[in-house]
Amino acid sequence: MLTTLKDVLTFAEEKNAAIPHFNIDNLETIEAIMDGVEAEQWPVILSVGQGAIKAGQVVYLSDLVKRIASETDIPVVLFLDHGIGYEQAKMVLDLGFTSVMFDGSRLPLEENIRISRQVKELAESYGASIECELGSIGGVEDGMKGGHNLVDLSQVEPFVQAVHPDALAIGIGNAHGMYKAAPSFDFDRIRACRQMKDIPPLVLHGGSGTPDPMIRKAIELGIRKINVATELRMAFMEGLEETVGKRDFYPMLKHAKEKVTAVVVQKIRLFRGSAVWEGKE
Ligand code: G3H
Ligand code: ZN
Repeated sequence: MLTTLKDVLTFAEEKNAAIPHFNIDNLETIEAIMDGVEAEQWPVILSVGQGAIKAGQVVYLSDLVKRIASETDIPVVLFLDHGIGYEQAKMVLDLGFTSVMFDGSRLPLEENIRISRQVKELAESYGASIECELGSIGGVEDGMKGGHNLVDLSQVEPFVQAVHPDALAIGIGNAHGMYKAAPSFDFDRIRACRQMKDIPPLVLHGGSGTPDPMIRKAIELGIRKINVATELRMAFMEGLEETVGKRDFYPMLKHAKEKVTAVVVQKIRLFRGSAVWEGKE
């Protein structure tokens, strides 16, 4: 069933676990992700990023997700990733997205607050949730080059008190894309943010290639949403490469999907720990 970011992160908070945010790019990746979700019976955030939007896929992807979400009891969030502003947020909310991110992390704090408040009010008018960002994420995602700025802790409470986002992505040394060397996260910043008044569930971007022990520690400290895109895309492309030579179309797609589903299952098991989603009898 289609639900909001706020709903699934409230559940994650109760379970001291994290909900996966998987970027979707076509029918096959949606199907592959949902095969893993159904196998593991755990809520999921299906995310449309700026690359899919630039490729003109947003209407079709939203229709596919709404249809597929209607066929399962598992909570599914239809999410705009790294949203660029009010108009884009409105466009996707009109398509039925249940949650949007506004990424103002590279703006001056006051500007980030101003636009985040506008998008928050807009999202609320649709009954939708909003994720915001402080401290930018390194690496490159969908052609967007990130900064690599750790979250400035002095900005967190003023931002949260002014905006009251449903989720907050923070820069702790994480980066989009596969890491060339093991990343080093500033875990103290997660601890510090968690102490702050009215802090919403925290989000870790750049989940691909992050060593499992670091993911477990981030969840223990309070990360409740973890984003993964690159690993899924790599799995899909590897699956195609491994079979395209046989020139057998549907077996090729099936193999590529199975590779994606294997990553999805591994991530869900890692993010959920020992938690169980109640919907499972
Ligand atoms: O917003 C999307 C995620 O942050 C994806 O990061 O490609 O490193 O998994 P990733
Ligand atoms: Zn991201």
